[in-house]
Amino acid sequence: MATQLAKPGERVDNAPLSCELDLSGYRKQIPTDRYHSRDYNQRERENLWMRVWQIAGRAEEIPEAGDFMEYRLFDQSFVLVRGRDDKVRGFVNACRHRGNAFCEGRGNAPRFTCPYHNWSYGLDGQCLSVAKPDFDGTTEEFVGDKNELGLIEVQVECFAGFVFLNPDPDAPPLDSFLGDAKEMLTPYRIDEMVALGMNLRESIDCNWKVVMDAFQEGYHVQGVHPELAHMTNLGAEHCSFVGDHAVTAVPFAASMQAGLGLEAEVEGYLNLPVANFPGFADALPRLAEIVAGYRKEDGTLELPSGATPIGLLQQAVREKLEAKGLDVGNLTDGQMSDYQYWFLFPNVFLQVRSGDGTAIIAEPHPSGDPTRCNWRVFALMWLPPEEREAQRTQYTDIAEDDHFPYFLALEQDFVQMAIQQRGLNSRQLPYMVLTKQEPKIHHFHDGMDRWVEGAGEG
Ligand code: FES
Ligand SMILES: [Fe+2]
Repeated sequence: MATQLAKPGERVDNAPLSCELDLSGYRKQIPTDRYHSRDYNQRERENLWMRVWQIAGRAEEIPEAGDFMEYRLFDQSFVLVRGRDDKVRGFVNACRHRGNAFCEGRGNAPRFTCPYHNWSYGLDGQCLSVAKPDFDGTTEEFVGDKNELGLIEVQVECFAGFVFLNPDPDAPPLDSFLGDAKEMLTPYRIDEMVALGMNLRESIDCNWKVVMDAFQEGYHVQGVHPELAHMTNLGAEHCSFVGDHAVTAVPFAASMQAGLGLEAEVEGYLNLPVANFPGFADALPRLAEIVAGYRKEDGTLELPSGATPIGLLQQAVREKLEAKGLDVGNLTDGQMSDYQYWFLFPNVFLQVRSGDGTAIIAEPHPSGDPTRCNWRVFALMWLPPEEREAQRTQYTDIAEDDHFPYFLALEQDFVQMAIQQRGLNSRQLPYMVLTKQEPKIHHFHDGMDRWVEGAGEG
C-alpha cells in the first residue's frame, strides 16, 4: 500500500541502502566506446542531446529585461533572453535573413540587431525592422511579411533557478521529464540560492560522461580523496531512482562514532571541515553552544532523553536557517544534516542540503571531440533576498590555457578525470565493470542505452 509522505524528503530518508538494491536488471559491463567513439558520439548527439531537457544556465545570470546569454551545444547555438514581461525565452541563434549568428556570449540589449544587414528583433523574437537603404517601397515589397520573419523559438523552462532548454520542439514539457524529482527538490528553494564562490565553465580532457560517473559514487573517496575517507559513512548510503534521475544520501561518519560515546560523536560533528561544507559555517558554533548548555558542573555531557548528537546538529542548522529567513518547514531533519546527491539525467550533479548546494554540469565539447568536455561549476548558497545581488559571484569563462584554483577535493577530481579518459581510450579495453557501490552509474548508463540506442527514451 502506498504510504503518504508528509515531506518529500522522506522518500530519500527512507530509501533502501545502496548495497541492498537489486541491480540484477542492469548491465554491469559498460562498453567503453561511448567515451571515445565518433560513431557513438554522433548517435548520442542526435538521439540524446538534440532531444533532451538540459540546463543552459542559471536564471540569476540574466536578471534584467534584455539580459541574454548564449548556449552552445556542439555546433548549435541558442540565445536565452529575459523579456520585458520577465519571462526567459530561448531562440535559435540564426538570423532569419541569411542565417547569421546574430549574438555571441553575454550582455544586455534592448533588441537584437544582426550585424550583417541590420535586421532587428525584439526580446520576444519578433522581427522589428528590416533595413532597406536606398529602397523606396515598403518592407512588404522588399522582402515579404515581417510577421513571418521572427526568430525561431525553442522550448525553455525554469526550475530551481536553472534555465532548462530543449532543442526538440516536440519534446514533452520539463515537468514530465523531471517527474517526482521536481517535488522532491522544490522544498530546498534552490531557485532562491545564488552562486557564491564558484560560477564558472572550464574545459576538461575527458568525455562528459566521465564527469557524470565520477560524481555519482562515493567509492573513489578512499582512492582519490583519502583525507575525506573518514568523513562519510558510505555503508549507510541510501539510494532512490526517480525516473531516469537518481538520488543518494550519505550520513556523516560521525554517526558511526556513536559507539565510542557521546563526546566522540559530538566532536565528529563539531569538526566537520567548513572548507568542504561551507553551509555549516554558522551552524557549528550554534551546535557548540547547544552542547555547552547540556554540560554538567563537572563538565560531563548529558543529553535530555531522546536527544541525539545528530539531532542537535539538525536543530542548530534549522535554527540558523530560520533566523536568516529560509522557510525550512517542508524539509526533514535528515535534510538539515545530510546532503542529497542528485543525478539529473543526463548531465547534472546536484549536491544539496538545506541552505546550500553545488551543481556540476558536464557539457559535450563544442568542438565535437568526444574525449573533451566543458564542466560548469556552481557553488550555491541561500541568502536573504536583500543580500543576493550584492553577494553573488559572476560567471567566469576559464580560458583554454588557464585553470581555476578549486578546493582540494574538486582539484583531485579534476585531475583524476583526465587520467581515467586516457585509460578509457584504450582500444583493448572493451568494457568497464561496475560494483554494488555504484548504483547510480548503473542507472545512468541504462538511461543512456535507452536514449541513444533508441529502445524507448524518457
Ligand atoms: S543575415 Fe542577418 S541581417 Fe542579413
Ligand atoms: Fe571526487
